[in-house]
Amino acid sequence: MKVVDNIAALRAAREHMGGSVGLVPTMGALHAGHIALVKQARAENEHVVASIFVNPSQFAQNEDLSKYPRDIPRDLAMLEAAGVDVVFTPTPDLIYPPNYQTWIEVETVSQGLEGDRRPGHFRGVATVVAKLFNLVQPQRAYFGQKDAQQVAVIKRMVRDLNFPLAIRVYPTVREADGLAMSSRNVYLSAEQRTAASVIRRALVSASKAYEAGERTAEDIRVVISEVIASEAVAELDYVSIVDAETLNVVEAITERPLLVSLVVKMGSTRLLDNMLLPAHLNTLEGLTQTLGGG
Ligand code: PAF
Repeated sequence: MKVVDNIAALRAAREHMGGSVGLVPTMGALHAGHIALVKQARAENEHVVASIFVNPSQFAQNEDLSKYPRDIPRDLAMLEAAGVDVVFTPTPDLIYPPNYQTWIEVETVSQGLEGDRRPGHFRGVATVVAKLFNLVQPQRAYFGQKDAQQVAVIKRMVRDLNFPLAIRVYPTVREADGLAMSSRNVYLSAEQRTAASVIRRALVSASKAYEAGERTAEDIRVVISEVIASEAVAELDYVSIVDAETLNVVEAITERPLLVSLVVKMGSTRLLDNMLLPAHLNTLEGLTQTLGGG
């Protein structure tokens, strides 16, 4: 596995890759969710490139940029074991040199949900992902369903800017008790970590209510709020029920697929999770008509 930290070396490595290239962009602090993306990329492409870059532009002033977990040697060992060919590890100055001025705003899809809570977040994500697409020129790029709005933003950007690649979305990988894997789980105290399984329980309860014929979004929100409220250390930040293709808020539930997303706060840590309903849909990947990508 080659590790490159500059653009000339990345381009030189890319030039030697015949056949298809799969890109797995990451911010490091890797877990089994990232490795599942790498394995999928490995299975579908001749070459796999991963990036490790804690992207400053997607963190707001009050967020955890400086304390975001970093462990490059461990990450590299995991990527090598999973079969990555090239890892790109740029510095912030390489991605955003002095007087950097060009940003990508994906307008509507970036609004609501995380976009409202984290102003500028998706502008930073879209910009760095577009830069990685230009640098690596992959045929496929791999993202996790856990960050559903991020997936929607990237798919829309790919469609709107005519990037010649496919976005592949992998189902959320979970711990044994159902907690979605996330690099930020390391922030949880032992008590918070135990309590965090309530998030998945709330989503499963919502799915059961849906299957039992519950047909208003408000009733599903109440089911989720009640389950979360059963854990004293968990505080529901928001629960949102939107049309999975348009991301428009829905109130009356129809046959169209829904995306139920929530954020639960455990102390200062925000934990995201989501579920598509009906639950067998699993990822947003097939729902590309409106979101783009396709
Ligand atoms: O999901 C992430 O880890 C990041 O948002 C991404 C896609 C690597 C962009 O920095």
